[in-house]
Amino acid sequence: RNAIGVQTASDASINGDREEHDLCNWDELKFSLIPTDYMYVMKCSSGEGAFSQGHLTRYGNVELSPSSGVLNYGQGLLEGLKAYRGDDNRIRLFRPEQNALRMQMGAERMCMPSPTAEQFVGSIKQTALANKRWVPPPGKGSLYIRPLLLGTGAILGVAPSPEYTFLAYASPVGNYFTGSMHFSVEDKVYRAIPGGTGGIKSITNYSPIYKAVTQAKAKGFTDVIFLDAATGKYIEEATACNIFVAKGNVISTPPIAGTILPGITRKTIIEVASWLGYQIEERAIPLEELMNADEAFCTGTAIAIKPVGSVTYQGQRVEYKTGEGTLSEILFRTLTGIQTGRIEDTMGWIVEI
Ligand code: COI
Repeated sequence: RNAIGVQTASDASINGDREEHDLCNWDELKFSLIPTDYMYVMKCSSGEGAFSQGHLTRYGNVELSPSSGVLNYGQGLLEGLKAYRGDDNRIRLFRPEQNALRMQMGAERMCMPSPTAEQFVGSIKQTALANKRWVPPPGKGSLYIRPLLLGTGAILGVAPSPEYTFLAYASPVGNYFTGSMHFSVEDKVYRAIPGGTGGIKSITNYSPIYKAVTQAKAKGFTDVIFLDAATGKYIEEATACNIFVAKGNVISTPPIAGTILPGITRKTIIEVASWLGYQIEERAIPLEELMNADEAFCTGTAIAIKPVGSVTYQGQRVEYKTGEGTLSEILFRTLTGIQTGRIEDTMGWIVEI
């Protein structure tokens, strides 16, 4: 076995030959892991600089050297994208090449080689197809595909790993959050710093904020909004999604400048909202502007589009419009319409598999 060996998963076939309709309770899907049948693995050894031909393997545990770069020094990236089943029973991916490009950008920052866009998109298609029976029926959810790029070679000194593994697995998912988001504003812990890794999907961006988020959840909030570390005045994003603020006909979102994750849903919503006639501004947004907005919403692959119900900062709570007829609801219907084939894709965003 190499640094990452795939164990034959005795429980990967737990669901055996069950038919799609009784694989799991599609009505109760949440954003939690349901193991599926296959995952995709591809490797790049030191000196090679390029990933060789990957392959599908049964979904299961992976074996890692205790001194692998990812376990010791967090050299790793994640991605996230979904496969949607339409009313026509066809399965579609949404802008997968954007995930490939974002992984390449992150790999460059983290001193890792990355798969070509062709290798990446090909691996996602294969992962989705191999787990096709796990793509939920229309309206019940989607198949979330989680690509990882990991420094799996053994290394003791602080340095880039001598071997890398690309891996993609999948799980059927439902809503990440139900209802609208109720945020507290975090003013002591920062998610990202200028020059740091906030603008890429480094695996190290998430656990350092668990404590702040756990404390906010214990007080009844859904999540937290982080402020910029340089001044503490401007809103940045939430734990796993970008944020938009709407006032009148103007929709604003913080700019991509190294500390904001360049979300693919974010990018899509900027385009969709401008077709719908809104004025879009990517600029620094003072916290007071969020507190005085008509509406606010979050975007991300996992959450899609979620309305913000309230924001609380230093004991002051403001509430926003949510529900029928709101901007976020219109954008949600448009986005999911394109993703599931109900609305024609005139942009070449859909990859049918
Ligand atoms: C996504 O929206 O796909 C994300 O990566 C967010 C998260 C679940 C880490």
